[in-house]
Amino acid sequence: MPEHKVLISEEHIQERVRDIAREINEQYAGCTLDIICVLKGALLLTTDLIRNLTIPVRVHFLHVSSYGGETESAGTVSLRFSSVSEDLTGRDVLLIEDIVDTGITMDYLLKQLREENPRSLRSCVLLDKPSRRKINVIPEYVGFEIPDHFVIGYGLDYRELSRNLRYIAILDPSEYQKKD
Ligand code: PRP
Repeated sequence: MPEHKVLISEEHIQERVRDIAREINEQYAGCTLDIICVLKGALLLTTDLIRNLTIPVRVHFLHVSSYGGETESAGTVSLRFSSVSEDLTGRDVLLIEDIVDTGITMDYLLKQLREENPRSLRSCVLLDKPSRRKINVIPEYVGFEIPDHFVIGYGLDYRELSRNLRYIAILDPSEYQKKD
């Protein structure tokens, strides 16, 4: 088993998620929120976040891919799956992502969702890597700003593994130097 360097502990993540949920409960008081969970990375954040929401929510899923199993973005986004079968016109929509890196994925998704004419559209990410930005997207709710490391855990993978870690860790470079 590789030794992972913990960047953000489970306790720190849970505390921050509860803070964000509190903010969302206040800002959307009296509203019903349509949450869009971007698979697969945002799965853990979405489940922990909605457990702490007291406002009514609907949950939808989208699956996009841009990394193709490597540590660098392929630079293109492809929509693989959408469970958004309802019309989002006039709805309050919150997009949930695990990480914003270049911003290409979030920019693509926000543009797609804007076309549905929601009443409001905001985004929530656990991790923000502003130093890697190619497109200027600014999420309204950010868990943590992090430096440019390839990170795994709490939904984030390397070659589909490590999503189940309860914390965020920096990928051991010996892992991605290995051939399978
Ligand atoms: C990751 C992450 C974001 C995107 C961020 O998805 O979940 O969707 O990359 O990168 P960007 O800001 O450079 O566009 P990935 O394609 O790895 O899919 P996954 O969530 O299924 O692991």
